[in-house]
Formats: sequence, structure tokens, C-alpha cells
Amino acid sequence: MDLIHDIPALRARLAREDSIGFVPTMGNLHDGHIALARLVRAHATCVVVSIFVNRLQFGPNEDFDRYPRTLADDCARCEAAGVDVVFAPDETVMYPAPQTTTVDLPDIQHILEGQVRPGHFRGVATVVLKLLNMVQPHLAVFGKKDYQQCRVLANMVKQFDVPVELLLMDTVRADDGLALSSRNRYLSAAERKEAPALFATLNEARRRLLAGERELAVIERDSVFALTSRGWKPDYVAIRRQSDLREPAPGDRELVILAAARLGSTRLIDNLEVKV
Ligand code: PAF
Repeated sequence: MDLIHDIPALRARLAREDSIGFVPTMGNLHDGHIALARLVRAHATCVVVSIFVNRLQFGPNEDFDRYPRTLADDCARCEAAGVDVVFAPDETVMYPAPQTTTVDLPDIQHILEGQVRPGHFRGVATVVLKLLNMVQPHLAVFGKKDYQQCRVLANMVKQFDVPVELLLMDTVRADDGLALSSRNRYLSAAERKEAPALFATLNEARRRLLAGERELAVIERDSVFALTSRGWKPDYVAIRRQSDLREPAPGDRELVILAAARLGSTRLIDNLEVKV
């Protein structure tokens, strides 16, 4: 496996490949990332994983500085998973000058996560477009745990005619249901025990939808209350349509329940698709 830090070396290494699959990450890899790499492995002859903690997508009071940086461990995990190239640029490679040209996606970037984290999706879309230009993969994979991110990036690829196929992979979960996330490592032992309650709350909302309830606001409110009464600080529980994350119109059948909530000082997000 090759560990590459700069763009000319990356281009030279990938020039001889005819099918490149790409997994963009911020590192601190867990089984969810490895599952993404294995999925790509089945579709491409060369698997590239990028590792870059992207300052642009963190708000001023977020965890950019304390975000875990574990490059040596990440490379070992990639090597074991059959990854061919780890691309780990530093900030001087990614942002040699202030990034004044950015990608903005009106509407979707301002709702849900975008409302709580202004500028987040501009940072995500901008770095992913840069990474796609650097790696020039045939296909790239993203995890559905970051559901809104998947929608934002699918829009971007479509609107800019980026020549890449996107694969979206189902969330990988621990046995107790907790969605795997690099941020889970911030949880104390007691919080880790409590954390599956987020997924349980989504499942309860899903059960009610499948049972025929259509007062979405009531289900959302009850879900927020359920979390709050267990000591969580929810930002939102929202039932939206899958296609554009807008409020469902009567007759929309493909829905997704999205939630973001703080447990202690750790903010967790999760979601669950439901076809009613
Ligand atoms: O999902 C992530 O880890 C990041 O948002 C991504 C896509 C690597 C962009 O920095």
C-alpha cells in the first residue's frame, strides 16, 4: 500500500489505473469506513482512501482541534483491508491559498444539520469536489449515516456533471444499534451505554409511521421528548422525504427520520429510512 501526501505523486501513482474507487474520510477509521473500502474493492481495481481533517467544515466552536488524528493506525487498517493508496494531504496541499471559491447548494445546505452547523455543507462540498478532482475516481462511496451529506454531494455531482458514480452505503452499527462514528470515542462508559437510545427512538418513530400514524409533528415532538427525558439535548428529530429532505407532501412514501442530539458533550446524528 502506498501512503501519498501530495498531488503530483498521487497523479503519477494513479495514472496507470483504469478503475479507481474512492473513500473520502477524515481518518480515525472504524469498521464503518473499512466496510466502505471493502464495498469499493468489489467495484474497482484500485482503492484510494483519503484522510484529511477538513477545517472548512467545522464551525468555530466545534471539535476541529480535538478531532482524533490517528494516521499510523488508519494506514494499518487500510493495509489490512486491501486498500491500495492512502492519500493524506496536509493543509498546505489542500488549501495552499485561502479557499475563496466554494461550493454552495442553496436550500438543502441550510436545513437540518445546515441550520445547526452553518457553513458545514459548504465546507464538505468544497473539499469533496477538490478531492474528486485530485483523485479522479470512477466511483466514490459515502455512508448513509451522514444522510444529508449524501444528498448534498449527489446534488453537487449532478449539477457540476462530475464524472463519478456515487455509491451510498447503509449505516454500519454496533450490536446494540449505535451507528459507528469517529465521535463515539468521546463518549464516557455511561454515555456509551445510553447512546443506542438514539437509534431506538428512530425505530419507535418508524414503528408509528408503519402503523399508519400520519401526524408527523406529533411523532417528532414525542421523539424529542423521549430523548430529552433521558437526559439528551436534541437539536431535531425530523421526518422528511428521502429525495430532497423537505417536509413530506401527502402521498410521499419514501421517508427518512433524521435525528441529531447531544449526549453530554458529544453530538450524535443518526437516521432511519422508512417506506410507508
Ligand atoms: O464524512 C466525512 O468524513 C467528511 O465529511 C468527508 C466526506 C470526508 C469530507 O471531509
